[in-house]
Amino acid sequence: MKGEQKLVHGFSKKSRDEKLEIVTGHHADSEGALAIFKSFHHSDPKMQKLLEEFSENTVSNFPLPYNICPNVMVDGKTYLVPMVIEESSVVAAAANSTKYWYGRGGFHTEIIDTEKIGQVHFLWKDDKQLLIDRFDELKELLIKDCFDITENMVKRGGGIRDIELRDFSDQEPGLMQLYATFETIDSMGANFINSCLEQFSATFKKWHASKREFRKDGLEVIMCILSNLTPNCRVRVYVETILDQMDNILPGMTGAEFARRFRLGVRVAELDPHRSTTHNKGIMNGVDAVVLATGNDFRAVEACAHAYASHTGRYTSLSHVTIKDNVFRFEAEIPFALGVVGGLTNLHPLVKLSLELLGYPSATELMSIAAAVGLANNFSAVKNLVTVGIQQGHMKMHLLNIMNQLNIPENRKAEVIEYFKDKVVSVSSVRNLAERWHLTGVKE
Ligand code: MEV
Repeated sequence: MKGEQKLVHGFSKKSRDEKLEIVTGHHADSEGALAIFKSFHHSDPKMQKLLEEFSENTVSNFPLPYNICPNVMVDGKTYLVPMVIEESSVVAAAANSTKYWYGRGGFHTEIIDTEKIGQVHFLWKDDKQLLIDRFDELKELLIKDCFDITENMVKRGGGIRDIELRDFSDQEPGLMQLYATFETIDSMGANFINSCLEQFSATFKKWHASKREFRKDGLEVIMCILSNLTPNCRVRVYVETILDQMDNILPGMTGAEFARRFRLGVRVAELDPHRSTTHNKGIMNGVDAVVLATGNDFRAVEACAHAYASHTGRYTSLSHVTIKDNVFRFEAEIPFALGVVGGLTNLHPLVKLSLELLGYPSATELMSIAAAVGLANNFSAVKNLVTVGIQQGHMKMHLLNIMNQLNIPENRKAEVIEYFKDKVVSVSSVRNLAERWHLTGVKE
C-alpha cells in the first residue's frame, strides 16, 4: 500500500537512483515524483556530489529563497544581509525596519562575551571529598592532555578557559559533571569542544585508575557533549532615537503615541509567555534567516535563544523598551554560537558568497549582524501589531503565494494585486475573483 513502509535494510548503501526508486514507489504518480525530485538535482554533478556529502540518504535538494535585506547599518557599517527563509513577509518586514533605522543611526551592538560550554557527565560512586581535594591536580592534567587538540586554537587566541566540578548528587545519586568553558574564536566550536570533552573523559578514567585511594568501580562516565545553552556568548543590540524623530511613523501619529503603544506591545511579551513565544519567534525569523544563509546551525541558535529567554526562571521577551528623557530605546540580548570558519562555511558555495557579501565578518561581527536583523524584524512586527495589525502586510505578501497556488497567469497578477489593495485577502476571496475574472486554468 502506498505510504506504508516496512523495515528497510541497507538504505544508506544504495545508490541515489535506487533510493529514489524506493521513495517514489510510495508516490501515487511515481514517474511524476521521480521527475520532480530529479529536476532539483544540480546540473553540475560535482556540485550535486558536494551537496549529497553534507548529509546522508540524500535523494534531492530542497531549495529555499535566498533573499537580501539592504540598508542594515550595524555599528556605523552598512551591509547587504543575506537571509534564507520561506516565510513571505519576513524579508519585507526586516527591510522596512532596517531602512527606517538607517535614517536614525542604525543598530548598535555590544558583544557581552563569547564563552562556549561543554560538559562531561559522570557518576562518582566514591567519597566526593576525595575528588574535590584532588580536582586541581586533575584539572591540570585534563588541560595538558588536550594539548594536541587545543594547540591551533590556542595559537588563534582561544582554547580551554576553565574547568569546574559541578555536583548534582543531591538530585541523582553520584551525578556530577566537569563543566568546561571554551573560547573558540571564529568557529562555532562544536567539533573542537566535543573532541576536548572526549579527551577529558579518557584522561579522567586513566587518572582515576591510577589512584589507589579510589574505588576501582568508583567512576562511570555517562556522556560528553557541548551545551547549546551559551548564555555568556551573547550580544546586546539596540536602536535609539528621540521621540519626535518617530513622528508620522503612521500618518498623523506622534512619535510619543507610537512609543507608548509600542512599549505596551513589548510589555505584554515581557509578562505573558504565550505572547513572549510569538514575540521571540518574530526575532528569530530574522536571526535564523541570517544564520541559515551563513551556513550556521539554526537549531542550536533557536534552542539557545529560547532557553535563555527563561533564564530568570520564567519565559519572557528577549527584547525590551525604555522611554526616558524623551528617548525611545528598543533593545535585545541574544545568545548565539556562530562560526565563520569550519562546517559549511568553506564548502557551500552560497554560504561562501554570503560571507563575502558581508565582508568576511568575524564570528562576533556576524553575531551583531544577525542580532540586528532579528531586532529589525521584531520592530516591524510589533510596530504593525500595535498600529495597523499584522494581516495587512502579511496577507499582501501571502497574496503572491495564493496566486501561485491558484495558477493565476503572470500577466494578470498586477491587476489582482491592485484589486486587493483595499480588500481583505483570503484564499477564498482570491479564488472567487479568479473565477469571476476567468483566471483559473488559463494558459499564458
Ligand atoms: C510571524 O512569523 C511573526 C510574528 O507573529 C511575530 C510577532 O507576533 O511579534 C508577526
